[in-house]
Amino acid sequence: MHTRVSAFLLFAFQLAAAAQQQYLAQSDDAPAHLVPDDPIAQAVLSRALADGIDLPAYAFSGPALEEIVYWSHFNSSELPGSLVHSAEGVEAIDVHAHYAPKWYSNARQDSTEWHLQEHLELMANHSIAKSIFSVPNPNIFPGDKGATLAVARLLNENMAALSKALPDRFGFFATNPLPHVNASITEAQYALGSLGALGVALSSNHDGHYLGDRLFAPFFAAMDDHQSIIFLHPTEPLLEVNNTLIKANPTTHSPVLAEFYFETGDLSAASDDCSSDVGQPGQC
Ligand SMILES: *[C@@H]1O[C@H](CO)[C@@H](O)[C@H](O)[C@H]1NC(C)=O
Ligand SMILES: *[C@@H]1O[C@H](CO)[C@@H](O)[C@H](O)[C@H]1NC(C)=O
Ligand SMILES: *[C@@H]1O[C@H](CO)[C@@H](O)[C@H](O)[C@H]1NC(C)=O
Ligand SMILES: *[C@@H]1O[C@H](CO)[C@@H](O)[C@H](O)[C@H]1NC(C)=O
Repeated sequence: MHTRVSAFLLFAFQLAAAAQQQYLAQSDDAPAHLVPDDPIAQAVLSRALADGIDLPAYAFSGPALEEIVYWSHFNSSELPGSLVHSAEGVEAIDVHAHYAPKWYSNARQDSTEWHLQEHLELMANHSIAKSIFSVPNPNIFPGDKGATLAVARLLNENMAALSKALPDRFGFFATNPLPHVNASITEAQYALGSLGALGVALSSNHDGHYLGDRLFAPFFAAMDDHQSIIFLHPTEPLLEVNNTLIKANPTTHSPVLAEFYFETGDLSAASDDCSSDVGQPGQC
């Protein structure tokens, strides 16, 4: 049984660049109210707790819960009808659409921002009927398991709420807290089974581990059981040196410009075999 890895990468670079532009373009349609008592926030907190994820421990959880509550109550009739529905004959599905809510950008200390109306305009301009969102790398606090689990869960709840607000236009691939294998299996099962994720998104490298690492074999076995689509995205690799995770970009260029292009060729690196079957070591 081999895990099928589908990488939908190159054709979408232009779109990704355009999306990046629009993240930077506008500010502040963010939700305004604190929502600690909202039943939706409470439900997210208790489901996370049941899976061993301690959301209240992290400062980013508050704004993330606000965002989730905001999209859960969002009424798309507030938008121009021309944006809520795709035009006649438009059928393209963009499977490489990144979502960067403000709480997530703030947590990772960058300035990218996502805005609904801009994204819908981008879709209209490029004849896209549906966007499948992904945030392939929740490892914005390298080596910190609790924070990585919390980021992944909140992104999934957030993308699920957004997708339900405009179900004809949006779907999502679940974020997974690898290299924490058991937690990633739990997260993927929750996202696929309960949140309506269409597949799982993975980075080429999670906290220093490439996907061919035999550590990940139980995760891929579980994804096989679910017949899950896997969306694979390159990232800036990390290396563990003297018990410390360091960035391993071998060039002086931004990883977006250089290292990214090679990362998905490195799937079996850091594994002691030469198999190209992800998660199936020893077959060469
Ligand atoms: C959304 O807003 C429209 C127009 O104000 C209203 O008719 C509709 O009932 C609302 N839908 C929900 C689910 O609240
Ligand atoms: C969509 O196209 C219009 C007309 O060319 C342009 O003004 C607008 O900036 C575009 N918006 C996006 C998000 O691409
Ligand atoms: C992961 O789950 C397996 C199967 O339930 C268990 O044997 C293993 O000890 C768990 N590993 C960790 C690190 O919790
Ligand atoms: C790792 O630690 C050893 C022993 O302290 C040191 O000699 C070596 O330079 C360190 N390597 C790096 C890349 O920092």
